[in-house]
Amino acid sequence: MIRIQEHVDLLPYNTFKIAAKARYFVSVTTVDELRELINHPVYKQNTHLIVGGGSNMLLTGDYNGLVIKNDLRGIETVSENDATILLKAGAGEPWHAFVMFCVTNNYGGAENLSLIPGTIGAAPMQNIGAYGVEVKDLIQTVEAIDTTTGELRVFTNEECAFGYRESVFKRALKGKYFISSVTLSLTKKDHKLNTSYGAIQQTLDQQHATASIKTISDAVISIRQQKLPDPTVIGNAGSFFKNPTIDQSHYETLKKTHPEIPGYFSDNQKVKVPAGWLIEQCGWKGKTIGNVGVHPHQALVLVNYGNGSGENIQTLAQDIRDSVNKKFAIDLQPEVNII
Ligand code: EPU
Repeated sequence: MIRIQEHVDLLPYNTFKIAAKARYFVSVTTVDELRELINHPVYKQNTHLIVGGGSNMLLTGDYNGLVIKNDLRGIETVSENDATILLKAGAGEPWHAFVMFCVTNNYGGAENLSLIPGTIGAAPMQNIGAYGVEVKDLIQTVEAIDTTTGELRVFTNEECAFGYRESVFKRALKGKYFISSVTLSLTKKDHKLNTSYGAIQQTLDQQHATASIKTISDAVISIRQQKLPDPTVIGNAGSFFKNPTIDQSHYETLKKTHPEIPGYFSDNQKVKVPAGWLIEQCGWKGKTIGNVGVHPHQALVLVNYGNGSGENIQTLAQDIRDSVNKKFAIDLQPEVNII
């Protein structure tokens, strides 16, 4: 049975810790509750904002519609054999809790994605990724409910149209589906351990540890804790911008004036440049402006030190974007959803 609340403070529901109110708010814990909601007049007469962990959005003001908190929980085994196991997790399940479930049971594949904030349902939305792994590498299917008809649709991995921090749910089907569960494929043996990201191998070497699901997870947790602010302590939404991809010719030109510019070549004559480096070069790293700022250990992360507004963050983001554009002729694109 759903309960729609009015004028709800959204501060506990967004990791940027922005004080904003929702005109209406509802928590949905089952598919039946979602279907009940779809027939409710408040749903029919208002715009909707679906939230999971609220870890990838910036609220720029009150939300004058219905906020739907996805609280569908549970992890179950769909099938398994000697080599692999398929796990189906409710969209409202915290992502890190799912990773810890896999690590504890020695199921391989998700360990590089330890400590990423947010929920299972948000993971396919933006194809979360870190330390050489993206969630698209694990996703078998995504179950979602049509937000108009209430019908269930099962998306195959291909139908999700995953890209770098991209999926069909963010693009062509934006707002059209409510993700109810995700089924992921994990290994039970012959694990494909990924230590390609330098800092993971360095951490393992320092600890004289050999690579395993558990040691990689521990290494990732320790790297993230050193570099990234804990959203329960300092408001933030992880990387604020995406790492931009530029033409090789543009990169070569920049290399003449900035020989130390990092770049990762891809096969289509494009180069991915770390946005954190560009922002740091513009002098933003560690800067504080009023109640908001740029994190001192990772320039790609904007932070709210308390009482900062969504507008304060947005202004800071725009100023950063302008200075990067002026210095490097690169237009940074936000990774977070600006509401
Ligand atoms: N760098 C700097 N200064 C900084 C930050 C980064 O010079 O302040 C340069 C360095 O050259 C460094 C490179 O950027 O070697 C890469 O930095 P890092 O390894 O911290 O990764 P990132 O590219 O900044 C991406 C993801 C993170 C993910 C890490 C690790 C995006 C937008 N961000 O960051 O994801 O944890 O890689 O794999 O792709 C997130 O999406 O919220 C997120 C935290």
